[in-house]
Amino acid sequence: MQKFINKLESSLKDGSFVKLTLSKPNKSHVETYGRMSADIRNVYVKPIILRNEKMYSFTYRYERRDETKNYDATQTLEIITNLITEIFLNASLFTLTEDISMMVSKKGKVSIVTKSVKEQRVQNVEHDKVKNRLINPENPWWFKLGLTTREGKVTADMQHKFKQICKYVEIVDGVMKNVKFNGKIRIADMGAGKGYLTFALYEYLTQKCKYDIAMEGVEIRPDLVVKINEIIKESDMKDFRFVESSIEAYACQQTTDNRQQTSSNFSGSQFLSFSDSIDILIALHACNTATDDAIIKGIESGAKLIICAPCCHKQIRQEMEKSKVVDSITRYGIFMERQAVMITDTIRALILEYFGYKTQVMEFIEMEHTPKNVLLVGRKVGEPNEEEKARILGEIKLIKERYGIERHYLEKALLLN
Ligand SMILES: C[S@@+](CC[C@H](N)C(=O)[O-])C[C@H]1O[C@@H](n2cnc3c(N)ncnc32)[C@H](O)[C@@H]1O
Repeated sequence: MQKFINKLESSLKDGSFVKLTLSKPNKSHVETYGRMSADIRNVYVKPIILRNEKMYSFTYRYERRDETKNYDATQTLEIITNLITEIFLNASLFTLTEDISMMVSKKGKVSIVTKSVKEQRVQNVEHDKVKNRLINPENPWWFKLGLTTREGKVTADMQHKFKQICKYVEIVDGVMKNVKFNGKIRIADMGAGKGYLTFALYEYLTQKCKYDIAMEGVEIRPDLVVKINEIIKESDMKDFRFVESSIEAYACQQTTDNRQQTSSNFSGSQFLSFSDSIDILIALHACNTATDDAIIKGIESGAKLIICAPCCHKQIRQEMEKSKVVDSITRYGIFMERQAVMITDTIRALILEYFGYKTQVMEFIEMEHTPKNVLLVGRKVGEPNEEEKARILGEIKLIKERYGIERHYLEKALLLN
């Protein structure tokens, strides 16, 4: 083992280190090691340039997540030495001239195989700036929003959120490509919460796509609105603000906007009546019928795109429970919940179609992260003819009868029932 460590040390010193892979963790040792959780699978190490300094990036691969940490050469030698003496049974070191594989048997017998490299190998040193990401976590607002460290690294517990953010931006970008916008694109994000998805979309559309946009986040919690508007101001983000309002109140607003303007970064009086001229309506994880209120706002303001990730589906669930028409399903709580989700969102999709939207239902993020993983996307294509409208209403009626539903909140609110 010392021979392997010596090879590692000299490759770090003379700059010939290309990469290193650790595999086959010894389970019982992991549990006693303390710093690492038991579902560790591998560790991958590669050189990177961070702020003009050579560092080594460690990717700790766990069963369902990756964790990345960067260390200098001295720390790298120390950490790898610990990992191969304490945990991993296999280690492969790749240098510019040699590949060295070390295997440790369960009884502690070490064997090493060294192969010289015949082809000319180049070191693939990844520069921290060259990654072509949709979202740049080094933008200062991500640290202020609590997604990254001060250095712009996504923290371990926000990795899933970051993945969700990137997936979301990717989906919205794909959908927007099929829509023609005129002039400034006005986007309202209802129930914007801590703003991760709102900031992500703003960043992507302004920085990467160079779209001219105005973004309004609607959030009921005043403390969040104040905090987010401070971050927007500090980050000098133009035509972007959060407003303190319930979705319902926002949705009810007519042409005059009497809300208090909370951010001076919002330019031009034309955006003060934003709520009646929305191009893209977003509602992600807004509770129960708040999603419906947001959809109503989108339909009424003629939004070209309506994007929602519905949250809980209490209204329909309660109707189904009350009517007991589907007793065999209501008996099993989980199935009841799933059924209510599908019925609620299918009727939403049909109502969007009735009002001239081509609807798509897609998976937002893998089921393992959240059961609320459906994204409902409506793209305005023009009103259907009367025959088509009658067919849609017929379908809605049939679903309601089958599941003992008297009314769907959205249907009622849009005076379809
Ligand atoms: C689950 S969070 C979702 C945040 C964000 N849209 C996301 O998907 O990451 C829901 C947010 O909506 C807000 N909210 C809930 N009901 C609301 C309502 N009726 N009007 C406005 N905001 C509401 C909550 O305060 C919360 O911040």
